[in-house]
Amino acid sequence: MKVRKAVIPAAGLGTRMLPATKTVPKEMLPLVDKPAIQYIIEEAVASGIEDILVVTNRAKSAMDDYFDYTPELEDVLIRGGKDSELEAIRHSADIANIFYVRQKETKGLGHAVWRAKRFVGDEPFAVLLGDDIMMGDVPVTKQLIDAAEKYDAAAVGVQKVSAEAISKYSSVKVSALEERIYKVSDMNEKPGPGQAFSEFAILGRYILTPDIFKILENTAPGYGGEIQLTDGLKTLCKTSPMVAVDFDARRYDTGNLQGFLEATIDFALKDPHVGDWLRVFLREKAL
Ligand code: UTP
Repeated sequence: MKVRKAVIPAAGLGTRMLPATKTVPKEMLPLVDKPAIQYIIEEAVASGIEDILVVTNRAKSAMDDYFDYTPELEDVLIRGGKDSELEAIRHSADIANIFYVRQKETKGLGHAVWRAKRFVGDEPFAVLLGDDIMMGDVPVTKQLIDAAEKYDAAAVGVQKVSAEAISKYSSVKVSALEERIYKVSDMNEKPGPGQAFSEFAILGRYILTPDIFKILENTAPGYGGEIQLTDGLKTLCKTSPMVAVDFDARRYDTGNLQGFLEATIDFALKDPHVGDWLRVFLREKAL
């Protein structure tokens, strides 16, 4: 199994981040000095992905503009000798082969992934959710690809969350294969009290086989009236092998304000330009 393609569903409405996301896609909100989606694309590229499809909607064209050239801006930077700024804006335009497709109706994550059918064709592919930003040494998508290739299986990225928090995620039924890797035999979306299969929650990273498209075509709307990816994956894990990878990284849900602020502070603390200043500033504020 060789994973060359990735899909980034980014067509959600971002209602948890209003009013900022009324006109700015949440994926374009900056984490320090880069939009959140750039971290996702950099993770995919660092994991060996060559082609990336972003699933957008009619309110999100700022994303395609961002990954394009900006000749007027570049001229100004060249004339002003601003080499590092020039390099930064060129890097974002040259980072990968990026394709776009619109999800014309917001029918859920499962439907957004299904829109990638033509792009994916007949090969395995990665899915990276635009909200879930990871900080770690080995890219999380690479950790999943390695497990998927080793077991010739689909893969979902998981981490343990508290018993109270699991109701916000999808829980998976697992049995251990090796350290950090489990066989998946069932799952459920946003389990009610006592219904979670385990405390392992699926957190925004997947390696899927094209079998998922046929399944999603036949998946009825589920939780919240949306076509849920988890409902499709539940069928997939019963018909083909699937592993769960307890990935090694810190995950931030930047789709809500608290996660967004945590990511902003942690990334800024690591930033060579502002990290030392921020550490002093935060110490002063904490007094
Ligand atoms: P979320 O439910 O976390 O994102 O979907 P949302 O709908 O944008 O956020 P809120 O709840 O209104 O604040 C998880 C992922 O699935 C994508 C989102 O963009 C996000 O990356 N998604 C969701 C779609 O692409 N299409 C959809 O119809 C729904």
